[in-house]
Amino acid sequence: MQKLILSLAVVATLPIFWSAPGAAADRQNGRAMYETYCVGCHGEAGNSIDPTIPNFANGDRLFQMDSQLLESIRSGNQTMPAFRGLLSDREIRDVISYLRTL
Ligand code: HEC
Repeated sequence: MQKLILSLAVVATLPIFWSAPGAAADRQNGRAMYETYCVGCHGEAGNSIDPTIPNFANGDRLFQMDSQLLESIRSGNQTMPAFRGLLSDREIRDVISYLRTL
């Protein structure tokens, strides 16, 4: 009986950790994505390679909400490539959490 109560308690609390939108972004994974897809333009440590490219080390564009940045990264703009289809929303959110540490 005790085992049953214990396992019910575990099952009841698991969704708290699994709730996808509330789950914390994985910054380490974001870093890996950044180094694969973004570093060529936005630069190591966020120091962009060209003045026309936002410099995340200076906080360029990072005043925007995550949802806005997510949309921009999905869609691209001018020479900024669109990442829709290449990166999942989950991966983009991971990258955004990494951008905020640069
Ligand atoms: C080919 C070069 C290039 C690559 C690769 C690139 N970017 Fe960009 N990025 C740009 C340029 C240029 C802009 C400025 C576009 C503009 O004026 O909005 C930009 C803008 C942005 C912005 C600001 C968008 C806004 O709404 O203000 C974000 C955030 C961003 N990039 C993130 C990323 C991430 C994350 C990656 C990798 C997954 C990436 N970029 C890869 C060139 C690049």
